[in-house]
Amino acid sequence: MVLAVLLSLSTLAVGAAIDKRAVPAGYVAAPSYPAPHGGWVPEWTDSFQKAAKVVSGLTLAEKTNITAGTGIFMGRCVGNTGSALRAGIPQLCLQDGPLGVRNTDHNTAFPAGITIGATFDKDLMRRRGEAIGEEFRGKGVNVYLGPSVGPLGRKPKGGRNWEGFGADPVLQAYGAALTVEGVQSKGVIATIKHWVGNEQEKYRMYSIIQEGISSNIDDRTLHELYAWPFAEGVRAGVGSAMIAYNAVNGSACSQNSYLINNILKDELGFQGFVMSDWLAQISGVPSALAGLDMSMPGDINTVPLVTAQSYWMYEYSRAILNGSVPVDRLDDSVTRILAAWYQMGQDNNYPEPNFSTNTQDAEGDLYPGAAPGSPKGVVNEFVDVQADHAVVAKEIARDAITLLKNVNSTLPLSLKASLKIFGTDAEKNPDGINACTDQGCNKGTLGMGWGSGSARYPYIDSPIDGFKKRGANYSFYNSDSFPSNSNPSTNDVAVVFVTADSGENYITVEGNNGDRDSSKLNLWHNGDDLIKDVAAKFSNVVVIVHTVGPVLLEQWHDLPSVKAVLFAHLPGQEAGDSLMQVLYGDVSPSGHLPYTVPKSEDDYPTSVSLVSDVVLVQPQDTFTEGLYVDYRHFNKEGITPRYAFGHGLSYTTFSFSSATITPVTKLTSTPPTRPAKGSTPTYSTKIPAASEAYWPDNFNAIFRYKYSFLAKSDADAAAKIGNSTQKYPYPAGYSNVQKAGVAAGGAQGGNPALFDVAYDISVVVKNTGKTSGKSVAQLYVQFPTGISFDTPIIQLRDFEKTKELAPGESQTVKLRVTRKDLSVWDVVSQNWIVPNVSGDYGIWIGDASDTLNLRCGTKAATCVGGQTSPV
Ligand code: BGC
Repeated sequence: MVLAVLLSLSTLAVGAAIDKRAVPAGYVAAPSYPAPHGGWVPEWTDSFQKAAKVVSGLTLAEKTNITAGTGIFMGRCVGNTGSALRAGIPQLCLQDGPLGVRNTDHNTAFPAGITIGATFDKDLMRRRGEAIGEEFRGKGVNVYLGPSVGPLGRKPKGGRNWEGFGADPVLQAYGAALTVEGVQSKGVIATIKHWVGNEQEKYRMYSIIQEGISSNIDDRTLHELYAWPFAEGVRAGVGSAMIAYNAVNGSACSQNSYLINNILKDELGFQGFVMSDWLAQISGVPSALAGLDMSMPGDINTVPLVTAQSYWMYEYSRAILNGSVPVDRLDDSVTRILAAWYQMGQDNNYPEPNFSTNTQDAEGDLYPGAAPGSPKGVVNEFVDVQADHAVVAKEIARDAITLLKNVNSTLPLSLKASLKIFGTDAEKNPDGINACTDQGCNKGTLGMGWGSGSARYPYIDSPIDGFKKRGANYSFYNSDSFPSNSNPSTNDVAVVFVTADSGENYITVEGNNGDRDSSKLNLWHNGDDLIKDVAAKFSNVVVIVHTVGPVLLEQWHDLPSVKAVLFAHLPGQEAGDSLMQVLYGDVSPSGHLPYTVPKSEDDYPTSVSLVSDVVLVQPQDTFTEGLYVDYRHFNKEGITPRYAFGHGLSYTTFSFSSATITPVTKLTSTPPTRPAKGSTPTYSTKIPAASEAYWPDNFNAIFRYKYSFLAKSDADAAAKIGNSTQKYPYPAGYSNVQKAGVAAGGAQGGNPALFDVAYDISVVVKNTGKTSGKSVAQLYVQFPTGISFDTPIIQLRDFEKTKELAPGESQTVKLRVTRKDLSVWDVVSQNWIVPNVSGDYGIWIGDASDTLNLRCGTKAATCVGGQTSPV
């Protein structure tokens, strides 16, 4: 009722100027029905055949049991589906998070997504995914709840940007696809999340008093920015996708038929299953019709433990019997879930969960949500899944370190240097490395942000541990205030550790509700003051920043004694030696910024500020900046940032030369016609017998556990409606006739022709300095002049990190641009089009977005060095 009133309030002002109450005109979530059946791409045919065979033998209650969780805290994992044991289908264990197995022991706390993004290293991205996959498998997790590519990083203060790979769709796309490939190569189903527009934490969820925030995104921006990484995750064969809490264009993502049915399952050709985010589902039938396949954790969104209700499970059984949801919709969901299970080979000796996300104790409640009456038993078996993953974790932490400034070759340090070290971030949290639940505090070395994207640390190799192990000559002042006893001497090098943290909305840390709404883009714990105080007394200052994202450096960056600045991002457990290897010059730093560092918060468009102060009505977040986020915006407005996207220094120097460009696939303005959809399993449309959902006799139900059975009387009553002439009031635009598929689709990721290579590019990268090091060749596309589409000046389309090059050594790096890379999304024809086939695209290559001096032109198919960077 309250919701209904709110809904009507929020729609009153449609068409008005953008305000916080109404979805502005032009931002539409069009109805799109029915949910496309899965199984139509050749890569999934076998798995769908196997799955469909099982599904054809399941009862109604078994099917609905598979599509939902058993309830919050009703099992060992954060999500636990119901099983169909009679048919050999176990419960599936779904577990966070993107950087490692959450809430357990003997796991690796890998560097966060933003850190692997900063490596710009595809090989490391893939190897990190493999190691993560091994750990999830080792703990018996069927479904890995990562990678995260939504948020994209539109809002610099957004709380969860650090779970993803950086503020650019192509960087996110490589991060996602390579993580998916790595994880799934170990038989674990990966989950690409959160689909889509989850760009701020505040107001993300629907509640009984307020609708979740509406991210209002136009169609072109959706395609060219926010959907891009999802498309690549799907192309990599991802087995599941998680919808976002928020609404898009006024319609909750959990039941937004346009997003799930039309874009994800049809245009992007997603074959796996779509799950809700936790308690994000807000209805039963509409979400099923809109293409949701799995309800997580199974409860309704309001006070779940109190009401113990579900939108699905028994309600889904009822909805099938009374004819509200067509049977083939349920069959398709179950088939998608089981197909993903077969696709990863989980039918073959897959381990069962051997840990509990709910406790660290060996024994405890099997179903803590049923407390105090829960049966008890062994819940944690302390299986060590770390293997040698610390090695790759450390390599990532090291190769992500981004050197921003290094005057007078202050770095690398000599081992003899007399160091004065400041800042609590240099040493572990004295209360314990896992003292705060889900890392919901910023105390001691900052290795990750907080929330479901965190993991427990098995240990932290802190920077101080690293200095100790090196035998460094140092004194450490474990405080964030400048101490009076540091005895500055002219030969000292002062090393200052500072942080900026953020996380998920359910935990508030130092006034920050997930987003950096209180700290803003400033360093935490008066970090600016500490640096300024140190800089006033010492003449050689090195600043090391552990951060979730951009921070303001202006108060101290240009002080003469601040000689070096580096971002070590979020290194996970391997914060110490990785840093030492760079500080002492075992290796040259080779990380690059996965976002822009501004000079002021005002450098950003106002539309990317956090939406706040909205009461009762639906908050509106309208993406009026369109394509112009992060560097795309800075470049358009001619704003010089403090450091540009992609920036990162080395101890050596590199040249980029002898580039070549080779046309591969001849472009046409629209892509060749897509392949037709392959066949999908055939499902009956006949409503099953009510007896398929009856409560079994003598069944021992667990308090608050979610079951899919119905009391006989309820099942019979539902079946009576289903067999009558009464029809469910379907939403506008509803149809249950499968469609041929949109022009832009055709395979996983979209029309396969979009990924045809249009041009191969090669460039010789040479180490022209005196130290070994790795370089990153970054490739940005500039669209031809005179086209009728407004496009950002440059956009990252590919990158490649070199191997470690000795002084004087060269490597030929291969890059490519695809048809999609040279296309824009045309909202009228609903297709990707090359705006000027014979136009001269600039293919710019360099090692940062603002130092692009080598240009290859598509028209003449030649490359010329020594050019003025386009931005
Ligand atoms: C988060 C998801 C997470 C889920 C399960 C939600 O609050 O948004 O990213 O996977 O919880 O913990």
